[in-house]
Amino acid sequence: MPDTAPDTAADSAAAPADFSAPNTAALDFLEHRASSAWNTLKPPVPDRAALSELLEIAARVPDHGMLVPWRFLVLQGDALTRLSHLVLERGTALNIPDQKRRKVATMFARAPLIVAVVFAPIPSDKAPEWEQRLTTGAVCLELLNAAEAAGWGANWLTSWIAPDRVFVEQGLGLAPHESISGFIHLGTATAATPARARPDVAALTSWVSV
Ligand SMILES: Cc1cc2nc3c(=O)[nH]c(=O)nc-3n(C[C@H](O)[C@H](O)[C@H](O)COP(=O)(O)O)c2cc1C
Repeated sequence: MPDTAPDTAADSAAAPADFSAPNTAALDFLEHRASSAWNTLKPPVPDRAALSELLEIAARVPDHGMLVPWRFLVLQGDALTRLSHLVLERGTALNIPDQKRRKVATMFARAPLIVAVVFAPIPSDKAPEWEQRLTTGAVCLELLNAAEAAGWGANWLTSWIAPDRVFVEQGLGLAPHESISGFIHLGTATAATPARARPDVAALTSWVSV
């Protein structure tokens, strides 16, 4: 450890963190973390600099073979209006019941900002596709947690529209091998989201020692 305090941002970034001490703030956050319901999210949203920082944090995930099998699409403004119209169209084409069709259209129309996390698998002998998909799910969770930790509201959604090839290829420009792992809605939470039941972890855990 240096014996004098770093005096520039660059020095500070280079200084090794003490990872042997418990990070109680991080533990407390993880113990109590929760999403914010999408319909409570309103502007303001993180600006480009703040969102870029959240995306950098989200990118810091375990990744077998360092393949980076994902990318981000930041959706806002008129793009969300356009996509909500496409949801209505696709709902009709797919015979989705009217209530579900309108609900998902509203999810896009009312969203202040959405980050689509795109799964973009890379051919690899080392990491099979299922592992790459897990990495992309981890990106979604990291983004959700980073946003909530920064004081924003966030919600990870997919809905019936995410697997629709017409929606993702025509509406979002995905290539045929790409798919959506999550639409991460981001904004300012305007109401508390009721706590939900959490799993009984002890009942789900087996301790294997032989
Ligand atoms: C992959 C994935 C897709 C989801 N899609 C939806 C969805 O389409 N609609 C919905 O109401 N909730 C959906 N959820 C659940 C929401 O994210 C929900 O708010 C979340 O489970 C709340 O849990 P938390 O408070 O622990 O974050 C999805 C969750 C995951 C992991």
